[in-house]
Amino acid sequence: MDDDVTPAPWWRDAVIYQLYLQSFADGNADGIGDIAGLRSRIGYLSDLGVDAVWITPWFRSPLRDAGYDVSDYRAIHPRYGSVDEGRELIDECHAAGIKVILDIVPNHTSSDHPWFVDALHSPPGSAERARYHFRAGREGGQLPPNDWLSVFGGPAWTRVDDASGHPGEWYLHLFDASQPDLNWDSGDVRSEFEDILRFWFDLGVDGFRIDVATALVKAPGLPDLGYPDGAFLADLTLADHPHRDRDEVHDIYRSWRKLADSYDPPRMFAAEAWLDDPDRLSRYVRPDELHTTLNLHYLKSAWTADGMRRAIDASITATSAVGAPTTWALSNHDVERVVTRYGRADTRRRPGVSGPELGLVDEALGRRRARAAALLTLALPGSVYLYQGDELGLADAHVPEHARQDPIWIRSGGRRWGRDGARVPLPWTPEGSSFGFGDDGAWLPQPSGWGTHAVSAQAGDDSSFLELYRRALRLRRSHPALGGTGEVHWCEAPRDDVLVFTRDPGFGCVVNFGSTPAPIALDGRVVLSSDDGAAEGEVPAHGAVWLDLHPRSRV
Ligand code: GLC
Ligand code: CA
Repeated sequence: MDDDVTPAPWWRDAVIYQLYLQSFADGNADGIGDIAGLRSRIGYLSDLGVDAVWITPWFRSPLRDAGYDVSDYRAIHPRYGSVDEGRELIDECHAAGIKVILDIVPNHTSSDHPWFVDALHSPPGSAERARYHFRAGREGGQLPPNDWLSVFGGPAWTRVDDASGHPGEWYLHLFDASQPDLNWDSGDVRSEFEDILRFWFDLGVDGFRIDVATALVKAPGLPDLGYPDGAFLADLTLADHPHRDRDEVHDIYRSWRKLADSYDPPRMFAAEAWLDDPDRLSRYVRPDELHTTLNLHYLKSAWTADGMRRAIDASITATSAVGAPTTWALSNHDVERVVTRYGRADTRRRPGVSGPELGLVDEALGRRRARAAALLTLALPGSVYLYQGDELGLADAHVPEHARQDPIWIRSGGRRWGRDGARVPLPWTPEGSSFGFGDDGAWLPQPSGWGTHAVSAQAGDDSSFLELYRRALRLRRSHPALGGTGEVHWCEAPRDDVLVFTRDPGFGCVVNFGSTPAPIALDGRVVLSSDDGAAEGEVPAHGAVWLDLHPRSRV
């Protein structure tokens, strides 16, 4: 009898679709994606075969950083809809077998948040200011309190006027000046966020992605960081970093875990943690902390046999040491799309470098590699994040300068291009206003030719990106070796630029990173290939195949 066997929790091997709401589907013809548009496309998500959606922040916000600047955590921005519509959406997703994850932003609020507005109107030393990090400047107040820099460029401090209109204290913002950092030593902050989590959990939300999960706790006294010359902030690894990965941050997540576990079924958390050290990263997913963490190691790796294998092994080793599943993502809304990155000679993610400095893009090559990468990623044990539009093989769009919105573009004075190119609204039809995204344009301009990648142009075409994803997701559900948290068995490869692995029972995957076809070094039947035109017995150049190693044992 199997009655006593509890099924593994859904998040251990879910395929989670990252839904960038403002660019998914526009239901009311204002050029901005919304809940109504999303509700009309739930069928698309079911057909694709994803298990969950992660909806990027939909809360009330002045939108200086695309909603990662929240002014009311219990309200949905009216441009997306209402909390009632949100509840209906959650119910409809559940009816379609799709879980819903929201995106909580606990490191900072918007400067429009009532707490910050109160803090500005309150004197130094007040309880209102103690919810944020306000400090007197150095050199008689003239200079910022320490040397910290904003991730988006410039100093991480902004000076505000005191009650008499003279320059007064400074406040900390690790991101834009419109995103003041909260002080997590404050009891108000801790209880407020647990209350916010409850609000959405009570509404039926299945989990949260935690924005900048490593940054909440700052070192006492906010000491200088001491930047080495020319260091780019996001790249910096320091043993005792004053605002990143502090040990005390784990207390917050232990408490959140208790809250999530008090629900039936228990709710889940996924950490956004840009940490290079897999062991430090795995501390976030210890059994009494968060459930999964985004795996940025894999996302940053170069598309080479050696680089990908090392990223896979290191990721699995680190998470399995604490009993957590590994997650895999090829891109997200903060980085270049995978087709673009893989279309370059240097396929690593290179933070701080952007636009023309990165070199030319061969999109056709990027697409071949991205198709192979899809098969590699979906064959691995654990859970997968699929960024909206990657299933269509979209590349980064060139967004004209006047239309760019990202604070990175603005704060860097145009030196860094920012992330808008990966955020352009989806094409649903080859023609029409905004290619079927909505009935009246799109908030970020879509390039001409965008319609070639439209959903309706790809659906039903077996050679398309979309159908490759659909077939892969279908097989991932039906093949007993796929999904789950089992092991990857590496096999001997015919060449250095080929990876071969199997998973039990009876599954094989061969990935060819090279520019000439490679022999399939496994004995089995090809059930899926990234390139249908490949010759019998070969893995195409820049391609991958899935094999059923025991074709006769299954119907
Ligand atoms: C995270 C988000 C990013 C945002 C930043 C500040 O890195 O993914 O989009 O700009 O946090 O909230
Ligand atoms: Ca709209």
